[in-house]
Amino acid sequence: MAKKPGRSCPRHYRYSPAVFARAADLEARSLYIVGGLYGNPYALEAVFSMARRENAVLVFNGDFNWFDVEPAEFESINETVLQHAVLRGNVETELAGEDAGAGCGCAYPEWVGDAEVERSNEILGRLRGTARGFPDLRARLGGLPMHLVAEVGGLRVGIVHGDAESLAGWQFSQETMRDRPERVGALLAGSGVDVFACTHTCLPVMQEFTTTRGTALVVNNGAAGMPNFRDTHFGLATRIASTASTHALYGTRIGAAVVEAVPVRYDHEAWMARFDRVWPAGSPAALSYRERIASGPGYEVEQAVRTGALSRAA
Ligand SMILES: [Fe+2]
Repeated sequence: MAKKPGRSCPRHYRYSPAVFARAADLEARSLYIVGGLYGNPYALEAVFSMARRENAVLVFNGDFNWFDVEPAEFESINETVLQHAVLRGNVETELAGEDAGAGCGCAYPEWVGDAEVERSNEILGRLRGTARGFPDLRARLGGLPMHLVAEVGGLRVGIVHGDAESLAGWQFSQETMRDRPERVGALLAGSGVDVFACTHTCLPVMQEFTTTRGTALVVNNGAAGMPNFRDTHFGLATRIASTASTHALYGTRIGAAVVEAVPVRYDHEAWMARFDRVWPAGSPAALSYRERIASGPGYEVEQAVRTGALSRAA
């Protein structure tokens, strides 16, 4: 039976974990991986100022579009992000295409309710309407890769939007890594990378695994453009570098590198005001996201950190 739009994982979203066994696409001493910007221009500014301070390489691993349905905003976010290393998320993939059957392409699991999936499909519909006014940008989004391999301090880092097998996979969600860690360990072992950096599932997690190759890590930044923890007003990005940051919320050392979750401290008031103007009360984005943007999800830092050598900033 065909799945409903927004529930399925289209076939062209898939790849083999073996694709990561290749020469690195980029090398950096300091790398920021920014997933789930969701069209927040203030978070984009905050990320740039962090990266500039240490001359870091930026990688945007998808879903940099979502709330940016105003044409000028859409154009500005995309023109800016596309100057960097960038992957397409399900949002960019569905924006570039006209596949109404995939909906938002999120491949939402059963624990996400039908009403929320329906609202995501509506948001995607509006965003696609905006994107039609920018055929060149649309074509560029459709041509972006689904994965990258980076090397930082001798670590091999697989950068994806979803998981090791799919652009919109949920196997690197905090829920699946809690419930089926053996499955995730097998994916890590089959891919030959030390760290997977991902996003897509909206909640952050950093979890260590022991595989036949040694210690490996999955780091999911949650969202750069929305709060990720209860009663907070900042997004998160993943930082991988040879030296630790004084700004990290939590992190761990693996080999000769550190992997950290760093707060993206954007202008909360300005973002709230802009969101409310574009997505007023009763709109699908307001119903699904306003509460989270205003005061964070019901999720704590302690739930996200699943590493042995925990170093957490006071
Ligand atoms: Fe996504």
